[in-house]
Amino acid sequence: MVETIHLRTPGGSYDILVGEHILHALTGVLAAASPDGVAVITHPKLLEWYGTELLRAIRDEGLEPIVLTVAAGERSKSYASAGALCEKLSERGLGRQGVIIAFGGGVIGDLAGFVASVYHRGIRYVQVPTTVLAQVDASVGGKVGVDLKAGKNLVGSFLQPLAVIADTTVLRTLPLRHLRNGMAEVLKYGFILSAPFVDFVVGVRRQVERRDPSVLAEIVAACCRYKAEIVGEDERDTTGSRARLNFGHTFAHAIETIFDYRRILHGEAVAMGMVTEAMIARRLGLCDADVPEVIRTAVLAYTLGWQPPRLPPEELVDLMYRDKKVAGGKLVMALPTRVGEVKLVGDVPRDVVMDVLREMDCDG
Ligand code: GLY
Repeated sequence: MVETIHLRTPGGSYDILVGEHILHALTGVLAAASPDGVAVITHPKLLEWYGTELLRAIRDEGLEPIVLTVAAGERSKSYASAGALCEKLSERGLGRQGVIIAFGGGVIGDLAGFVASVYHRGIRYVQVPTTVLAQVDASVGGKVGVDLKAGKNLVGSFLQPLAVIADTTVLRTLPLRHLRNGMAEVLKYGFILSAPFVDFVVGVRRQVERRDPSVLAEIVAACCRYKAEIVGEDERDTTGSRARLNFGHTFAHAIETIFDYRRILHGEAVAMGMVTEAMIARRLGLCDADVPEVIRTAVLAYTLGWQPPRLPPEELVDLMYRDKKVAGGKLVMALPTRVGEVKLVGDVPRDVVMDVLREMDCDG
């Protein structure tokens, strides 16, 4: 069974295909695009596990792919990697009518998409995400970019892919920690849009952790429907609708930056961020007192830690103020009003954030 979700934006409309054993769908996507060259950007393990299937889908369209690999991990999402990939694409002769296939998790998708957005002033690309995190979030909606030392995703652009192919069978090789990592972003859709979805996701934890591909497909498809709707309303993140997806992320980006993108995974940081930001919302009187607890219980169900490591609150708050979501020196945050709804708050007071961080015993 393949579920097709159509995403419609001014920057491009395309299908998100979700299902089991669907890598071969790439043949049809390439047939429709008629590229004169294809480059796959991936990492070595994925090539070992799924390369045969993926490359066959490209060769079935009569194309011999250029294959480029990058090391796994957030530290590959850099300007240096993007530059090296552009040099290699040029050496190997990929032209303007070529297509890049981003075959990997969020790092590969963001990096390869960024390369597609600048190489020859922009070429086409397809997202073939291989982690829960990338299937439910990063591959959908055209945000591409790299990190700077100062913070995450500080350089990037919007480029919608030709298609997204989310094959849930490839999640069988995803380590459990990375599977749970993605579930933080899954739960986030529930926290911002639907309390019943939170209950559903928590209720199917055993099937998810057993990698039941049909339950995973149901979850991924639901998330992609949520995301397609939001991106359709606000492709360029200007009206506040898409900014709701940032729930938990202001704090998460600060934590990830402090750890230099090592030791902590994005979803793990988001889990901590969602609890912390819910506590900020409670302190501001935006939500009922039990909301942080409901969120904490759901993230704990997926064994996602919620307690941030002991770090100086001043350092964390300074980093939060360096995030892209700061406008006119004011911290803008998506904060919960209840489970299933968030609203943008344009000027979160620094002392409130400090108080909450102290309350969470971040003080080192
Ligand atoms: N990951 C947040 C967004 O796509 O807007």
